[in-house]
Amino acid sequence: MRQPLNNPEVHFLKYQIREIVDVVQKLKEIDPAKFFVMENIGDPIAKSWTVPPFLKEAIVQEIQRPGDKVFGYSHSRGLPDVRKWVVDHAKKMCPSSNLDYEYVLFTSGLGSAIALVYEMLPQGFRVVQPAPSYPTHSSMESFFQKQDPISYHLDPRNGWQPDMAHLEQQIVAHPDVGAILLINPNNPTGAVYEKETLEQIVLLAQKYNLFIISDEVYFRMVYNGKHHTHIVDIAAGRVPLVVLRGLSKDLPWPGGRCGWIEFHDIDLDSEYRAYADALRQRILMEVCSTSLPQFIVRAVYDHPEFSAWIAGYNQELEKNGNFIAETLSRVPGMRVNRTDGAFYMMPLFEEGVLNNRQTLPIENDAVRTFIESAVNRSDFPLDQRFTYYLLGATGICVVPATGFYSPHYGFRLTTLERDDAKRKDTYERLAGAITQYLSS
Ligand SMILES: Cc1ncc(COP(=O)(O)O)c(C=O)c1O
Repeated sequence: MRQPLNNPEVHFLKYQIREIVDVVQKLKEIDPAKFFVMENIGDPIAKSWTVPPFLKEAIVQEIQRPGDKVFGYSHSRGLPDVRKWVVDHAKKMCPSSNLDYEYVLFTSGLGSAIALVYEMLPQGFRVVQPAPSYPTHSSMESFFQKQDPISYHLDPRNGWQPDMAHLEQQIVAHPDVGAILLINPNNPTGAVYEKETLEQIVLLAQKYNLFIISDEVYFRMVYNGKHHTHIVDIAAGRVPLVVLRGLSKDLPWPGGRCGWIEFHDIDLDSEYRAYADALRQRILMEVCSTSLPQFIVRAVYDHPEFSAWIAGYNQELEKNGNFIAETLSRVPGMRVNRTDGAFYMMPLFEEGVLNNRQTLPIENDAVRTFIESAVNRSDFPLDQRFTYYLLGATGICVVPATGFYSPHYGFRLTTLERDDAKRKDTYERLAGAITQYLSS
C-alpha cells in the first residue's frame, strides 16, 4: 500500500457484548459438545419472545399493498407522515413538547443514529458519558474525538442513579464538555431515573450552557412500581434536548433496524440548530433508512392491543429480574441492584474480592488451555477473567462490567430468559460458580 491503512483510532471501538461471542465460537470449535447459555445480548427474539401478532399482520398487509412502495427508498429523513406521527406522539406523551417534524430523523437502527450524532459534533466538542455506559455511545464519542471518553459515575450505592457531584466536577474539569448523555431506562444497569435526578441534570445543563442527549430506547419498559419521567417535559424551553428512540426493544423488532432522532426545542440556541441542520444534511448521504418499519410503526404503536402487550412483557421482565436479583444477592462477595427497567442487570463484585489467581475447574483440557492462555495478560481485567472462566467451566456467557466502561468490577446479564426452570438452573449455577471462583 502507498499509504498506511491501519486506522490508529480503531482501539476506541469496544463492544464486548459481541466480542465475547467470538470466544464462544472458538470454544464451540474446540468442543462441539459444549452447551452455552447466552446471557450477553439484549435480543428478545433470541430468548424466545415472539412479536405480537398485530405486528406480523401489519407487515403482511403492508407488503401486499398494491404499488409495492414499501420495497422502494423512502424519504431520506424518514417518511414525512411518519415524522409527523412522531411529533403527535411526543405531544401526547409530553404536553410541553414543541417538536417540529423537520427535526425528526429516521435511521437504520438506533446504533446508526448514535454514530451519526457523535460524528457530526465538531472536533473538541465532548459529550460527558455515564460510566458504566452502553458501549456504542462511549466508543463512538471517543472514536470521533480521538480521545478517551470523559465519564461521570452512576452510583451503585444509590440504585445506580447518576452521581451528580461527580457529573458537575467533570463538567467543570473539562471545559470542552458541551453536552451530557443520559440513558434512561439504563443499559447496562436497569435503573430508571427519578424525576428529581432529571431536574438536577437539566439545572446543570442550564448552568453550564450544555445540551442533553437522552437515549430512551427502553422508555416503555419500566416496572417494580417505577414509572418513566419524560425529560422532554422538564427540559422544554430551558435546554436543547436530543431524544433517541427506536423499535428494537419494546415491539420487539431488533432485526427491523429502525430508530430515530428527535431534536427538541430547536429555537433555543443557534449553535444547536446548526448542529441539527448538519445532521439533517448528513443523513441525506444514507439515501434512506429501512423502509418497512417506517410504513407500519404507527399502526403498531397505536394498535388497541399494544398497551396490553407491553404490560404483559413488563410483568414478565419484573418477575424474571427480581428472581435473578434475589438469587445473586445471596452470594457473599456480590452487590446487586435489582432491575426496574429495560432488561439488564449489573451485579458487582465487592471491592478486593477478585484476584488474578482465581479459577474454576474446566473438564476439557483444550478448553482449559484456551481460557488460561486468553486471560494470561497482565492487563486483563479481573472481571473479564471471571467471565472467561465462567464460560469455560459452565457455558454461561455474561459480559464483564469493564466492557461497559465501568469503574467497578462485575458483569452484565440480561433478564430475558422466559423459561422458569432454565432461568433457575442458569442463575443457581452462576451463583455457585461465583462462590467457587472467589474461594479458589
Ligand atoms: C441504550 C441503547 N441504545 C441503543 C441501542 C441500539 O439499538 P438498535 O438495535 O436500534 O441499534 C441499544 C441496543 O442494545 C441500547 O441498549
